[in-house]
Amino acid sequence: MFSAKYHRRIGFLLAGLLTAFIAVLAQAQQPKDFRTPPAGPEPGIHGPRVYGVRPGHPFLYRIPCTGARPMRFSARDLPATLQLDPNTGVITGMAPAKPGKYSVVLQARNHHGKTRRSLTIVVGQTIGLTPQMGWNDWYTYYGHISDTDVRTAARAMIDSGMADYGYQFIDIDDCWARKPNSNDPQTGGPVRDAQGRILPNSRFPDMSALTAYIHSLGLKAGIYSSPGPLTCARYEGSYQHEQQDAAQFAQWGFDLLKYDLCSYSHVANTSQLAELQKPYRLMGGLLQHADRDVVLNMCEYGKGDVWQWGKQVGGNSWRTTGDLGLERGNSLPGFYRIGLANAELSEYAQPGGWNDPDYILIGMVGNARNQNAPARHTTLTPDEQYSYMSMWSLMASPLFFSGDMSKLDPFTLNVLCNPEVIDIDQDTLGRQARILRKTAQDLVLAKPLQDGSLAVGLFNLTEAPRTVSISWQDAQLTGAQRVRDVWRERNLGTARGSFSRTVAAHGVELVRLIPRHAKTGVSSAQLQ
Ligand code: GLA
Repeated sequence: MFSAKYHRRIGFLLAGLLTAFIAVLAQAQQPKDFRTPPAGPEPGIHGPRVYGVRPGHPFLYRIPCTGARPMRFSARDLPATLQLDPNTGVITGMAPAKPGKYSVVLQARNHHGKTRRSLTIVVGQTIGLTPQMGWNDWYTYYGHISDTDVRTAARAMIDSGMADYGYQFIDIDDCWARKPNSNDPQTGGPVRDAQGRILPNSRFPDMSALTAYIHSLGLKAGIYSSPGPLTCARYEGSYQHEQQDAAQFAQWGFDLLKYDLCSYSHVANTSQLAELQKPYRLMGGLLQHADRDVVLNMCEYGKGDVWQWGKQVGGNSWRTTGDLGLERGNSLPGFYRIGLANAELSEYAQPGGWNDPDYILIGMVGNARNQNAPARHTTLTPDEQYSYMSMWSLMASPLFFSGDMSKLDPFTLNVLCNPEVIDIDQDTLGRQARILRKTAQDLVLAKPLQDGSLAVGLFNLTEAPRTVSISWQDAQLTGAQRVRDVWRERNLGTARGSFSRTVAAHGVELVRLIPRHAKTGVSSAQLQ
């Protein structure tokens, strides 16, 4: 008679074979310009390996995990002040009062298998230890954003599977407040109450209920204001109400503030560095003393070389350029120009403070020059979209999709949701890729990763396929390197001295070079 253990083993073996078979079948059915292989039914935990929180503050983290539901989550060595919901994988509670590093092992199991991944919760003053990931409404809704749209986006973040890869923030941009001196019934009326508290417009009936809904999904909520009297779209700003507004945003339950310079230049001489820094220092300080963690996303378009001082004034990220959606591009699409400018600033990115080259505009996306026009499908080619996402990830950029969450298509998700690409963005070392080579024809970016491997993007800037290479000498590499094709999640063998690939027009090949004998974050199964 065979033992129960034997039966279990056979069961696991068959389930494994079935899973592999389904994966091969699913991959064979993908259109050929899709690069990311479909996720299997077995559990796969993704997202950052390190997460910062201030002592004693509310904690919220939804374990990003692909695979068939129902799923059962557990965590080893979770601090006693935190609780994990075993069905949803959402961790809530209060961060420990004692600063330090808490090493937790996250575990997930379903009918197809089980997996684990470590997460270090770092309790201290630095938050945003890896670049923020999420969605921002601006390039879809502009002046029309409403509570319903935000809820729809939050729901879609879960239902589309994006949250299973680490997308977490649902950010409201401009146009939620009221508009001074407006006769519009939706946005008019007093901009503040008798106590001076800022009031949302009628499209946002209850901000606390909105953030509670977002939090109930295990996601985080972001809001927007300006240090000037008016926002860029001429809604009420925070000028001379900074303390009240910071308190209000925290009390409503927001987890991120985008603070956009806009009309501040009308009330201060922002060509002087001290004047430019002043409102950010003020808001940064106020948020650091709030009773919840609020990430500060500075938006002042790179003025005064913000990358040199953004972190000191309390920023967790800072826009380095103007609006990507307004960028016209030339022979290369606009994201390349913005990306190339941002790529020059690699030495300034660090855990807790990131260069922000603006949002990811793919999928169905509105027109920044004609904001009332209906959203249209991006005109970027598939290769350009993979270049965009690769460049942003190599640059450790915040990853905010800003297309329509209610009209996500499989290709857009294929670009946004590759776990190995996201691992590069979220790498614990927190380094931004350096430019190894930049000519009129090609660009090579290289990002050192925590495990000693090197992520390399080989970009073709021309309009025809072209061979792009990296030489070990330029990258200060030695010896044999295992080469992993990151997008296709495939190993390409071993290279010595240099590595070359044919790259499509305006496209990219993204590889990870792993020293032959190194222990790496890429699992041995991936490297076989
Ligand atoms: C500026 C910012 C954009 C967006 C708009 C809103 O242009 O750069 O990202 O927030 O304001 O009005």
